[in-house]
Amino acid sequence: MATVISIHSFRGGTGKSNTAANLSALAAMQGLRVGVVDTDIQSPGVHVVLGMGDDEVGKSLNDYLWGNCEIEEAAYDVGTRIGPEITGALYLVPSSIKAGDIARIIREGYDVGLLNDGFQRLIEELELDALIIDTHPGMNEETLLSIAISDALAVVMRPDSQDYQGTGVTVEVARRLNVPRLVMVVNKVPSSFDTEQVRQRVSEAYDAEVGAVIPHSDEMMTLASSGVFVHRYPDHLVTTEYKLLLTRLLE
Ligand SMILES: Nc1ncnc2c1ncn2[C@@H]1O[C@H](COP(=O)(O)OP(=O)(O)O)[C@@H](O)[C@H]1O
Ligand SMILES: [Mg+2]
Repeated sequence: MATVISIHSFRGGTGKSNTAANLSALAAMQGLRVGVVDTDIQSPGVHVVLGMGDDEVGKSLNDYLWGNCEIEEAAYDVGTRIGPEITGALYLVPSSIKAGDIARIIREGYDVGLLNDGFQRLIEELELDALIIDTHPGMNEETLLSIAISDALAVVMRPDSQDYQGTGVTVEVARRLNVPRLVMVVNKVPSSFDTEQVRQRVSEAYDAEVGAVIPHSDEMMTLASSGVFVHRYPDHLVTTEYKLLLTRLLE
């Protein structure tokens, strides 16, 4: 049985795609067979963090949803290009970055049930141990679906008042959908903040476990598409936090 993990946040730009990419790379470096699906169809991004250029995206999740291909035909082996440290396997199903494709999805919508079928098929065809779903911020039909079918949900937030408010909505929805494991991730924490205080505040605000408190990191911000952080900086504090988070999510 594969573990399905969704990465969500109420607001955009919290660090979901970076979290999805780094967790998946870590899991694959630990020998697991991992799939990542970019369900943020309106603003795709995880392909960049996993080192895939826009021009390399051929078949995408969009093609699967439109019935043009099987989902595994839109899965790219991004693990081998990271390096021999990937002892398991790492596959990415990207969303299309073509403006016309994005516009078509927004205009026409799609059958959300197909997403679930696709996830299950991907797990079987690629013999995955873990499936990580990068989501669109806020609540819509596909985020509800991915949250509902997940074994574990990571809710990413920044330690500012806007995020504190919005995140409560996500947490409440996740509880109603009975997600077996709900883990909070506080990201981009300024170095002037007391980490333990942040952890406690978030834990109390949502009555939930805090899986990671990740500092704001200049290296992370500037690494852009030139490598996966946990692979490039194996001993960095950010990597240590991602490792702890992965352990909680896979438990
Ligand atoms: N811990 C961090 N420190 C510094 N910059 C970060 C951190 N986490 C994410 N970022 C940056 O924030 C931006 C948004 O991250 P991203 O993962 O794309 O967020 P989302 O998918 O939630 O929109 C990116 O430029 C990324 O490099
Ligand atoms: Mg994103």
